[in-house]
Amino acid sequence: MKRILVSIFLITLIFSACRKDSGPYINTPDEPEPVSFANDIQPIFDSYCISCHDENHSYLNLKSCCSWYELSATGYNAPYLDTINPEQSTLFKRITGVVAPVMPSTGSPLAQTDIDIIKKWIEEGAKNN
Ligand code: HEC
Repeated sequence: MKRILVSIFLITLIFSACRKDSGPYINTPDEPEPVSFANDIQPIFDSYCISCHDENHSYLNLKSCCSWYELSATGYNAPYLDTINPEQSTLFKRITGVVAPVMPSTGSPLAQTDIDIIKKWIEEGAKNN
């Protein structure tokens, strides 16, 4: 009986200790979420790029299977990313039109919010995250 009581006491102690640690430290405003390649960047490629940039494109396949590898290493003119000087990245120069023709080459240019998030992703190290 005594053992059971001690166990219950210890278990309660462990759980209350856990509760104290959670909460106030999570999601503090000073720590913004890093950009996610899979959740934030690939959807932009899916919407605006892969109609041309698929496996039949001569330079760059931006489908989810391959986009990160193509941009970092395997694409025809890779790397398209410069994490030291993000604005010098071929990818960035194309979506802003610094190198013509601006991409996407038909329809409207990307929204400024999409351009900004791609730049932030490159600044954060262009991770495959
Ligand atoms: C209507 C078709 C089309 C769409 C849509 C399109 N592209 Fe392109 N893109 C091309 C063609 C064709 C080329 C190669 C000719 C050239 O360099 O202009 C190219 C070239 C590029 C290059 C340079 C490749 C190299 O090796 O020099 C990049 C980077 C690029 N596109 C990125 C994008 C991104 C990012 C998107 C979406 C935001 C996009 N493109 C949408 C047709 C397209």
